[in-house]
Amino acid sequence: MGNFADEINKRRTFAIISHPDAGKTTLTEKFLLYGGAINLAGSVKGKATARHAVSDWMEIEKERGISVTSSVLQFEYGGFCINILDTPGHQDFSEDTYRTLMAADSAVMVIDASKGVEAQTRKLFKVCVMRRIPIFTFINKMDRDANDTFELLDEIEKELGIATCPINWPIGSGKSFKGVYERESKCVITYSDTEKGTKEGQTTRIGIDEEDMLISHIGEAFKTQLLDEIDLLDGASAEYDLDRIRAGELTPVFFGSALTNFGVEIFLQHFLKMTTTPLPRKADIGLIDPVENNFSAFVFKIQANMNKAHRDRVAFMRICSGKYDASMEVKHIQGGKVMRLSQPQQIMADERKILSEAYAGDIIGVFDPGIFSIGDTLCMPKEQFQYEGIPTFAPEHFARVRQLDTMKRKQFVKGITQIAQEGAIQIFQEFNTGMEEIIVGVVGVLQFDVLKYRLENEYNVDIRLENLPYEHIRWIENKDIDLDRLTGTSDMKKIKDLKGNPLLLFVNQWSVGMTVERNKGLILSEFGRN
Ligand code: G4P
Repeated sequence: MGNFADEINKRRTFAIISHPDAGKTTLTEKFLLYGGAINLAGSVKGKATARHAVSDWMEIEKERGISVTSSVLQFEYGGFCINILDTPGHQDFSEDTYRTLMAADSAVMVIDASKGVEAQTRKLFKVCVMRRIPIFTFINKMDRDANDTFELLDEIEKELGIATCPINWPIGSGKSFKGVYERESKCVITYSDTEKGTKEGQTTRIGIDEEDMLISHIGEAFKTQLLDEIDLLDGASAEYDLDRIRAGELTPVFFGSALTNFGVEIFLQHFLKMTTTPLPRKADIGLIDPVENNFSAFVFKIQANMNKAHRDRVAFMRICSGKYDASMEVKHIQGGKVMRLSQPQQIMADERKILSEAYAGDIIGVFDPGIFSIGDTLCMPKEQFQYEGIPTFAPEHFARVRQLDTMKRKQFVKGITQIAQEGAIQIFQEFNTGMEEIIVGVVGVLQFDVLKYRLENEYNVDIRLENLPYEHIRWIENKDIDLDRLTGTSDMKKIKDLKGNPLLLFVNQWSVGMTVERNKGLILSEFGRN
């Protein structure tokens, strides 16, 4: 095995999450710069171009200048092979953002030091907690005036319900940002604002006991303040505990400024020591160990139109165990077929690289002729098991969809079904009818525009969307339920998914509660299983 296990053990796969504008793109670019994956020197891109370079595949993204899809980037650093899963950076994010977290072993949360915890961070964080993914916090933009450090930590603890453990501690912020104090080494690392696009600049490491040096670099006042804060911190903050970090109960916190390259490499070095190698995954036959087993993978994302010229569809899968090589045959469990994956590729920035091999922890994109669905398992032909499905996240916006030209019924049904299969939208039907009336549910309202745009451009079907007032959807967990006898509130709507499973729509949380109260034994769930 030797080499093969080494390859897997050097993999680190994480997702990077933040509220828009906190600095996720900038930080990602700086990571890549350290890894030498892309050369940014002398060509630092403005936000618009940087975004386009990384993940703008669809026309609609270009039109709006936002990123709808998520991308995967790989680079090497310090003997590690790092996979970063980028998540859409717009408020109107989609279910893909959530699903990306299913393919990661840990998450890096970027927070703007002057804003603290923001809405989108909260949502993504919930999913990390559900999956117990370890979370690493990078508090960014210290070169701007920041909120009080203790208050920032307090906010993370209160709002997100996770204990914090600062690995380093900022000295000042904004114009008077002096650097960080590294708690483990008891050293101050002085701030240097490097040229954009170059690596970390000339910083000085000063031991906390080297008083004169310290005063000459950070000044008397900051030195006194720092010593006070260190005392406070040692008494008040949670102790460093790697087991708790890996269980997702404690988040290590770092401070820095991605724009000026400060604290990025320090973060990377500590982070890599604390994260895990690719983790075992749950399947119906038990946990599958990445190193002990042959190739297996699951599909977590399907993306259409990555290349307009070819009108193709790519299925992204996370390799969970073993090694993949392009010549081998694999079994698609859900389809019951043995096949060769066509054009396995890795998406690097805006380029695609055809792969000859990949290992557990890696993400590959394969050409999908329309056979894969989110959550599908692939393994060796002689094996038979299925990875635990990816939950369906509750949409929060609903609309009724009507096609304008009834002659195009077939294209309409085909288009909307395919788009739903990719997981960008969820489709439902009225409880007692067929496909005449379709209700679409989405996680972010932008997906409505994506749907309309794609049906027009790819399937030549014009539609009208009529917004519905529902905001809450619940799957019914009870197996034998007589829906006709269910007594809900007057605003409740009964619908079914494409497999015929019954669901309920509600306008508000109160109605959800009332319905559960009125129907003894009724069990409702916020997550559906594929
Ligand atoms: P996002 O992916 O999380 O949405 O954020 P992104 O990296 O695009 O950063 C948002 C804005 O914040 C950008 O400015 C970026 O330059 C700036 N920024 C990122 N990190 C830092 C930092 O450490 N310090 C400071 N001062 N600014 C930072 P922009 O003006 O919106 O775009 P651009 O044209 O300057 O790129």
